Amino acid sequence: MRQATLHQLKVFEAVARQNSFTRAAEELFLTQPTVSMQVKQLSKAVGLPLFEQVGKRLYLTDAGKELYTTCREIFERLSEFETAIADIKGLKQGALKLAVVTTAKYVIPRLLGPFCQRHPGIDVSLTVTNHEYVIDSLANNRHDLYILSQPPEDLDVTVQPFLENPLVVLAWRNHPLASEVNIPLKRLAEETFIMREPGSGTRKAIQKVFDDSGLPLKVKLDLGSNEAIKQAIAGGLGISVLSLHTLALEGTNSQLTILDVEDFPIQRYWYVIYPAGKQLSLIAQTFFDYLLNEGKAIAEQTAFQGVFSQGRKPDGHDEHCKV
Ligand code: PGA
Repeated sequence: MRQATLHQLKVFEAVARQNSFTRAAEELFLTQPTVSMQVKQLSKAVGLPLFEQVGKRLYLTDAGKELYTTCREIFERLSEFETAIADIKGLKQGALKLAVVTTAKYVIPRLLGPFCQRHPGIDVSLTVTNHEYVIDSLANNRHDLYILSQPPEDLDVTVQPFLENPLVVLAWRNHPLASEVNIPLKRLAEETFIMREPGSGTRKAIQKVFDDSGLPLKVKLDLGSNEAIKQAIAGGLGISVLSLHTLALEGTNSQLTILDVEDFPIQRYWYVIYPAGKQLSLIAQTFFDYLLNEGKAIAEQTAFQGVFSQGRKPDGHDEHCKV
């Protein structure tokens, strides 16, 4: 076991947690053969197999389970050590680990710009993944702070909203409904939808609106990326509901338009969250306070100009317009 490296333990922990060599490789930006090799060498160092494959499923052996528990304790202690060291160094140096939902990538990098200029010695690691994975990271305390728009109800967390995140109905700009106003939800239900993948927070929010009104949702296509959805809408494949933030960089020649539909936009917020009782590092606490005190103003200065300059108000109820 003495030959085992911290890197191998990190790779093993990711495979055990994700229950998959492929997903662990994606998470760690490694190739799958590299991940398999690291686990094989670790298994050799332990002297026992760590996984067994039954059919298509991967299981931890008893030795693997022991090692997984040990790994989590080691990484938790290391993270506490890093926090203690970062606090000793103050804000001059250190790391800020953020996990944000896919759609927040339209907002958080813009907010990180001024923050990093103020604190140039800080290294930021930004994990962008969907709602379900962010909740999993939060439950397992893998990052400093988490950004999402649907706080979990079953976890004990500290949560603060810092910015609006309206969800709007997007269509191709020549869509027959483009010039209609106050379109009934029932009429919208006749359209085919392009949806984010299962596990997405955006998808859950749309599904809820339709479930609450007892209307079926005709889903033609699932896509894991907001940008791919915008391309599919422009290609005339259907309509969708996305965060208004996804339009932040759309120019006047955009192929997309926001439909004026009853009950829309769905009003949501971006929340910054961490497990209740977690001791935030000085850097994480400073970023948390920055989001709360300055996040909204900075986001509004840097985004939506393409949308708002054409007469649409943030609440989406202004005159109908192309974006
Ligand atoms: P998503 O989350 O990117 O996973 O859809 C966004 C949200 O919850 O608003």
